[in-house]
Amino acid sequence: MSILEALNWRYAVREFSDRKLSDDVIAALVEATRLSPSAYGLQPYKLLVIKSAEVRAKLLPFAMGQNKVRECSHLFVLARNTNIDAQFIEQHFTHVENERGLKPGALAGFTQHVKDVMLSLSTEELAHWAEKQVHIALGNLLTAAAIKGVDACPMAGFENQGFDGILGLSELGLRSSVICALGERADTDASAAERKVRLPSAEFSLEI
Ligand SMILES: Cc1cc2nc3c(=O)[nH]c(=O)nc-3n(C[C@H](O)[C@H](O)[C@H](O)COP(=O)(O)O)c2cc1C
Repeated sequence: MSILEALNWRYAVREFSDRKLSDDVIAALVEATRLSPSAYGLQPYKLLVIKSAEVRAKLLPFAMGQNKVRECSHLFVLARNTNIDAQFIEQHFTHVENERGLKPGALAGFTQHVKDVMLSLSTEELAHWAEKQVHIALGNLLTAAAIKGVDACPMAGFENQGFDGILGLSELGLRSSVICALGERADTDASAAERKVRLPSAEFSLEI
């Protein structure tokens, strides 16, 4: 499929078949998500891959009745970091220095700049910033899934605190942001027949 064919083929699947995705396919989708860009490269989030049917059954009561949490093949939970502080930023740039073979401290000036910018934000602003980065990763995941012919449903309709409690995210300095069910569409999925609705092209983009 070309990219536009893949994007027209995909839709938010509401009912999944029993078929399970292979480990290889899941690994490719994890990698596509990992490769997502983020501001300053800080990647202020982690990805949890929930394969366990037992855990997904426990999450279901906090998923606003969305059975696909349990019925999909794998559930991805994108969780933002709650501890974006000086140490988090320093660790990131030390990692960049190591990966690029730079001298320790080579990025000290830029690290300070990023700390000045990021640490001037309030807790709410930092959370909002991290959520934006998470949603870039979600977009990459959805596009990668479509290109691989994997069905998906992104979901914001769930109770964060319930998910965080079951997955032990607070202890990891994380908070669930958005989730994505992955698998194969069921033949009976009513959403498959619905026409894709978007703003008409002429209204969507403006050439200046
Ligand atoms: C961030 C985000 C959250 C969403 N949350 C839900 C959700 O909780 N439940 C659901 O069934 N669909 C959810 N959707 C799917 C949207 O309703 C769907 O993508 C949109 O209507 C466009 O339709 P399409 O994806 O089928 O083309 C969500 C989509 C996004 C991007």
